[in-house]
Amino acid sequence: MKVLILGVNGFIGHHLTNRILESTDWSVYGMDLGAERLEKAINNPRFHFIEGDIAINREWIEYHIKKCDVVMPLVAIATPKLYVEDPLAVFELDFERNLEIVKQCAKYKKRIVFPSTSEVYGACPEPEFKEDESFLVTGPIQKERWIYSASKQLLDRVIYAYGTRGFFNFTLFRPFNWVGPRLDSLYSAKEGSSRVVTQFIAELVFKKPLTLVDGGSQKRCFTYVDDGIDALVRILVNEQGRCNNEIINIGNPDNECSIRELAYMLRELFQQHPRHRDDKLFSEIVEVSSQNYYGKGYQDILSRKPSIEKARKLLNWEPRVTLRDSLMRTLNAFLEENE
Ligand code: UGA
Repeated sequence: MKVLILGVNGFIGHHLTNRILESTDWSVYGMDLGAERLEKAINNPRFHFIEGDIAINREWIEYHIKKCDVVMPLVAIATPKLYVEDPLAVFELDFERNLEIVKQCAKYKKRIVFPSTSEVYGACPEPEFKEDESFLVTGPIQKERWIYSASKQLLDRVIYAYGTRGFFNFTLFRPFNWVGPRLDSLYSAKEGSSRVVTQFIAELVFKKPLTLVDGGSQKRCFTYVDDGIDALVRILVNEQGRCNNEIINIGNPDNECSIRELAYMLRELFQQHPRHRDDKLFSEIVEVSSQNYYGKGYQDILSRKPSIEKARKLLNWEPRVTLRDSLMRTLNAFLEENE
């Protein structure tokens, strides 16, 4: 199988590429702006990389959509700080650029495996979000954070409409707070625009306070990337076409914790790390208002838990890595790579 991955150097892109090259005989054709996460893959004869931009290298993309068996457009801005700082960039990249790819998949009848997001459920009040039943709930327009959720939701709807009208087969997957090595760079965390786990790790490394937005009682289910990738590979294999035109949550409901618990657990793991055991000083854990941290366009999601019944049934999959192990592996990888 030939897999086209746009955004191959991203968090999901590079982990998926490594796994494909290690455990299958497939080829990966990949494009991204850079290649710093692709060290392992870059010399593999089944990996074909081009440095490029999806907004510019359109011919290369069209040619490879024709040539490949499955298309994974993984290019997106996915950090909440940027949703409120630059909502138009989110719309242009996450929606407009990706819509062009979706339309080409329809033109050439190519299978598309597209990253939807846990964010499309928004502030859904249900205890567990179900792909085919839950309401998708977003806030007022002035709360610009929702532009990501809304952009992704509309793409989900467009892809669904193409798929159910026979233009292509699709699978929409919804990652729930995947974490792991190289989630975001410590550089973006230094600027304060990274997802929470990288943000907290950077603050521990730089001895700065860990900030709990609005007290930190909001909850997430953190999913270790290896578990997520395992599910994604099963989606690509698509045994008996079981994933055709399906939407699938990929998360670990057993790993639910509040952001406050997350901060304390990460700090404890950091304090136990051989390289830091004897440090004189450790970061404090403090509270900050969301208004101060993100600005007025922010609104939070207080609870976000996936139902994974569909993933269990369609993929015969189960997440395995506990919360503590997920955080330990992520922390250790960051410390090894950056210190
Ligand atoms: C994330 C992002 O939108 C996407 O990466 C993705 O689509 C999706 O959710 C996902 O990974 O499932 P969110 O979970 O809100 O959204 O992103 P984080 O930035 O990781 O924040 C998690 C929580 O920690 C939020 O409640 C945030 O307010 C809080 N936080 C963040 C803090 O308390 N302190 C910080 O320093 C940073």
